[in-house]
Amino acid sequence: MQNAMLKEDIYYVGVNDAARRVFDELIPLPDGTTYNSYLIKGSSKTALIDTADPPKTDVLLKNLENTGINKIDYIISHHGEQDHSGSIPALLLAYPGAVVVTNEKCRSELCSMLKVTPDRFKIIEDGEELSLGNKTLKFIFTPWVHWPETFVTYLAEDKILFSCDFFGSHYAFNAKDGLFVENTDVVYLPAKRYYAEIMSPFRSVIRKNLEKIAGIDVKILAPSHGPLYKSMDFITECYSQWSSDSVKNEVLLAYVSMHGSTEAIAEYFGNALKKRGIEVKAFNLGDADIGEIAMALTDAATAVIGSPTVLAGPHPKAVFAAYLVKALRPKTKYLSVIGSYGWGGKMVEQLADMLGSVGAEILDPVIVKGYPATDDFAALDALADTILEKHRDLGLV
Ligand code: FEO
Repeated sequence: MQNAMLKEDIYYVGVNDAARRVFDELIPLPDGTTYNSYLIKGSSKTALIDTADPPKTDVLLKNLENTGINKIDYIISHHGEQDHSGSIPALLLAYPGAVVVTNEKCRSELCSMLKVTPDRFKIIEDGEELSLGNKTLKFIFTPWVHWPETFVTYLAEDKILFSCDFFGSHYAFNAKDGLFVENTDVVYLPAKRYYAEIMSPFRSVIRKNLEKIAGIDVKILAPSHGPLYKSMDFITECYSQWSSDSVKNEVLLAYVSMHGSTEAIAEYFGNALKKRGIEVKAFNLGDADIGEIAMALTDAATAVIGSPTVLAGPHPKAVFAAYLVKALRPKTKYLSVIGSYGWGGKMVEQLADMLGSVGAEILDPVIVKGYPATDDFAALDALADTILEKHRDLGLV
């Protein structure tokens, strides 16, 4: 994909990182990722849109060299996170006449994180325009997609919206792909995974930012990760649905088991829910992909965590799941805990305490001493009945 052209004088100079399998030492990347960067040559000035992750700086510099354009005036930095800003120090050395164009919040981040010196910036305001001669960049602030400084840039003459992380997907280009999404089925899950993993906590501001850009005439949507779109329709419709308050008749069931008791409880409970017509997204936390859990949280009306008791508290993998739920702040309406214990402990109390800040109603847990027996199965059926009733109240059944 290197040095493909979006249009005349607009180059793709980004980096394809198909081999990368983990992001932030946390997020699985089953399809790799890209750090998209674009070079726009105007009649009087040249601008680079975003850069690349620091280990890929040499690739970006080579891609720029291959364009044959040896002068950059502006480096537009939409976002301080290093996968897009990390090459800025090297670029400022390679292109000594360049200045970083960004807002005040991002300037502050880049000065502290990358030690860029204050004299290398041009600070812009929301709605401000910057002329490249025959091309005009308009900056539109879109805070919290997904950091406070994030903004997007509209290239008016070519109707291209450069949206940085907003609408991105971790999906590397391969030999048969072009730059653009040709089949939305292919990009749907990578885009949803991306939304679920980093955008989900900011649903309310995402809705505001969707409104803010809704009236723009966009012929090319160019995010900073994954393929580009020839229309905003598909991805903005996805974002509208994901960021809405609507939930589905689904239960996320994330559990871990040590000796089989909690697994038996989770299996029985999952089947009890299915018998009641509720879709169950079950994950064994022993080897679960947290991106899959995050995607399930994007839709589920209810989330249930299953844990044994270990060291007098929840299993650490259940703690991780509870932390993930808390951090992603999903629109989930109901939460509960199921699990087992041997002699006692505070497993439920500790998990419920972590989940309390989500804002969902916490349904009475079902905790079993050892392997489940008749009364325990009845209690699990009762919890399934309660969830069905709650989903009915939401109009989901
Ligand atoms: Fe792709 Fe928030 O960085």
